[in-house]
Amino acid sequence: MTHVFHRDQRTSYPVAVRGEGCYIIDSHGRRYLDAAAGAAVSCLGHSDAEVIAAIETQLRRLPYAVTSFFTTEPAEQLADLLASDAPPGLDRVWFALDGSEAVESALKLARQWAIEAGQPQRREIISRRQSYHGNTLGALSAGGNAFRRAPYEPLLVPMHHVSPCYPYREQHAAESDAVYGERLARELEHEIERVGAETVLAFIAETVVGATLGSACAVPGYFRRAREVCDRHGVLLILDEVMCGLGRTGHLHACLAEDVVPDLLCLAKGLGAGYQPVGAVLIHRRISQVVTLGSGAFQHGHTFMGHAVACAGALAVQKAIRSRGLVDTVRERGRSLEHWLRERFGRHEYVGDIRGRGLFWTLELVRDRDSKQPFPPEAGLHARIKAEAMQRGLTCYPMPGCVDGQRGDHILLAPPYIISEPQLGELVDKLAPALDAAIASCVAL
Ligand SMILES: Cc1ncc(COP(=O)(O)O)c(C=O)c1O
Repeated sequence: MTHVFHRDQRTSYPVAVRGEGCYIIDSHGRRYLDAAAGAAVSCLGHSDAEVIAAIETQLRRLPYAVTSFFTTEPAEQLADLLASDAPPGLDRVWFALDGSEAVESALKLARQWAIEAGQPQRREIISRRQSYHGNTLGALSAGGNAFRRAPYEPLLVPMHHVSPCYPYREQHAAESDAVYGERLARELEHEIERVGAETVLAFIAETVVGATLGSACAVPGYFRRAREVCDRHGVLLILDEVMCGLGRTGHLHACLAEDVVPDLLCLAKGLGAGYQPVGAVLIHRRISQVVTLGSGAFQHGHTFMGHAVACAGALAVQKAIRSRGLVDTVRERGRSLEHWLRERFGRHEYVGDIRGRGLFWTLELVRDRDSKQPFPPEAGLHARIKAEAMQRGLTCYPMPGCVDGQRGDHILLAPPYIISEPQLGELVDKLAPALDAAIASCVAL
């Protein structure tokens, strides 16, 4: 019997023992092509010599110094690097251990900003349905992932949720992108007014929605309109790029493609690329200055934040992304991946939508393409796909609930940025029979 209290008590997990580029190798020597980079994490694959060397060097020099007494060279250098090519104005960095903590930190910093800016009545957070911002109670409260929230509802902080930008299911047939984006911006504004504009602190959104909706990109102009609405009412815009940031969607920051600058930008996953657990919040100077000139201290912190080894690892990862031109590689390989997916699944009877950007792509599965009717949740299609894919040596990220938190299945693909063209071929060659076998077992039910 295992003494690890695993995520799923009824699953017997293979033991991952080694990483080699885009592959994970288990204790039986089985190789899995990591087509989801874990959960959009391992963007440099699993054996990057430069990153490992940087971590080893820092570990020998100094593993840890608490941030209430010291700063460290890797933390300073990582912050310098992140500030140097951040969207304009985002020139301060708060470190966290993961994405949930980055989101918690952003929410708390927003609140402290309001108090110090003389607007203590601002306390309401607006987020979107079908979003995910993390699993700690504050981040879960902000998120709109019904399935993950359900058991914890009584513990969650009340927050407000508006519609996501989900063109496949929620854009009307006769509605242009501009009109759809405008409708959603109006909904956000109405919600701000309904809640009481002077009490609203922040609007938080994933720039490209990750696992909950499956790489759902906003229609052009949506985020610019949302930014205008926030500005009109003095509401902060927090963008969560924990999953879609740092090159994943073909831009260093996904918001660069939307031409918006948030007040706070949450990062994690690809920041340390799985070599170290690390997250961060990039802070706009108009927010940081209020605290700097006010109380002078953010009343928040965790023991391991800004960990020297985590920062050294993340610094090496971020240098590699930039010096190896990996954001351009993501765009190039992303075009190939899109081509492969459309060619192989574009006419597939049960694939309703293929969407994404960069190396962040999703197949949304439907029982009927015309009506977009999903498979029944009891069929557990997502779990069958995961199992069939693993049997074929492929890890992908199938998820349930994209329609309404219960119904709908999709497969998220987020391979390492270093994936080669032949490996993209291997990915679809393994995914296609896994999908067909999983669907066959559901249709037979
Ligand atoms: C958009 C987004 N925000 C926050 C989180 C939480 O990050 P973590 O699991 O590192 O706490 C995730 C995790 O999947 C995410 O996708």
